[in-house]
Amino acid sequence: MLKPRETIAGLRPYHSPIVSRAGLSLDLNESMAGCSPRVLARLRSLSADELSLYPEREVGERLVASFLHLGPEQVLLTNGMDEALSLLFNAYLGPGDELLFADPTFVMYPMLGAAQGAQVVRVQSCEDLTLPVADLLARISPRTRLIAIANPNNPTGLAASRVNLLKIVEAAPDVAVLVDEAYFEFCGAALTCRTMILDLARHPNLFVGRTFSKAYGLAGLRLGVLAGAAEQIDYLRRLSLPFNVNSVALACLEEALADRSFVSEHIAQVKRERKRLERLCNELGLRFWPSQTNFVLVRVGAQAKTFVEAMQQRGILVRDASANPGCNGCVRITVGTPRQMDGVLQAIREAVAETS
Ligand SMILES: Cc1ncc(COP(=O)(O)O)c(C=O)c1O
Repeated sequence: MLKPRETIAGLRPYHSPIVSRAGLSLDLNESMAGCSPRVLARLRSLSADELSLYPEREVGERLVASFLHLGPEQVLLTNGMDEALSLLFNAYLGPGDELLFADPTFVMYPMLGAAQGAQVVRVQSCEDLTLPVADLLARISPRTRLIAIANPNNPTGLAASRVNLLKIVEAAPDVAVLVDEAYFEFCGAALTCRTMILDLARHPNLFVGRTFSKAYGLAGLRLGVLAGAAEQIDYLRRLSLPFNVNSVALACLEEALADRSFVSEHIAQVKRERKRLERLCNELGLRFWPSQTNFVLVRVGAQAKTFVEAMQQRGILVRDASANPGCNGCVRITVGTPRQMDGVLQAIREAVAETS
């Protein structure tokens, strides 16, 4: 009988069969404010040639590189950051190698590590769910080949300091260290969360991931970025498929980057609504983790599942985060627009009253 290679059989698919996403979808950290009107206008202006010819990723890479103040040889555009992660894990991990990360974090890391047949080494975050720097450093072994850190983190929303991240990058110069900045744009004051893009020049083992799925509101277009040392990005380019980013996404990229006011207004709105959600948690006596992202992790108690159901009955999908180590009784709620949040805050009040 035909069988895939051994490591595949034990994998679980990412999507549990989604019955319906009807309602307000605050469970996947997408943008609830749509995308830039300039991107929509560009979409409407697409010509037949733009669709019939193969896309030129390099043009987009030059745009993103100049936006990030990097050289184009340091940037790889990908089909969402998920593809960047997949390439990175594929390039540096194999059977017998160790993938190291701190729990709780982005669910794709263990899945992609397992897909490579790597040993998944998990370190539990501190009690307050902050990055356990000392424990991570202690677990670096001669077999560690990749360390993955989401900063700010998903599902906690917490950010680690650049100083702490550098300790890890510098402790393991022969290990690929990914700092996944999917939510970077939503960070609060610059001091609490600094991008590691500026550190790429001095650390050839460092990779930084970015995405257009969150602050730019383009999750459906699938546009991600992996930045790193030119030599390492060159390896990943060899591994990537030549036309991985489609021409529609590439055409929209320029407008997405150019419409600074859309992005900054959206970020400011998320921060305001995030504050409202956090204030409500305070008022209701619910523990939450001060977020630097477009979502908030809230401990609703042992009844997380019934809370999620109570929200769903009110037409709002939120994510039960209880299965994440250290997140017992927690839900993750994406921040919506002011109008949506009026209804969401009311629904939370009702769901808490109903389930406590
Ligand atoms: C931490 C983190 N990294 C990467 C991604 C993947 O983003 P993309 O939509 O670009 O594939 C996500 C998506 O939710 C995420 O939370």
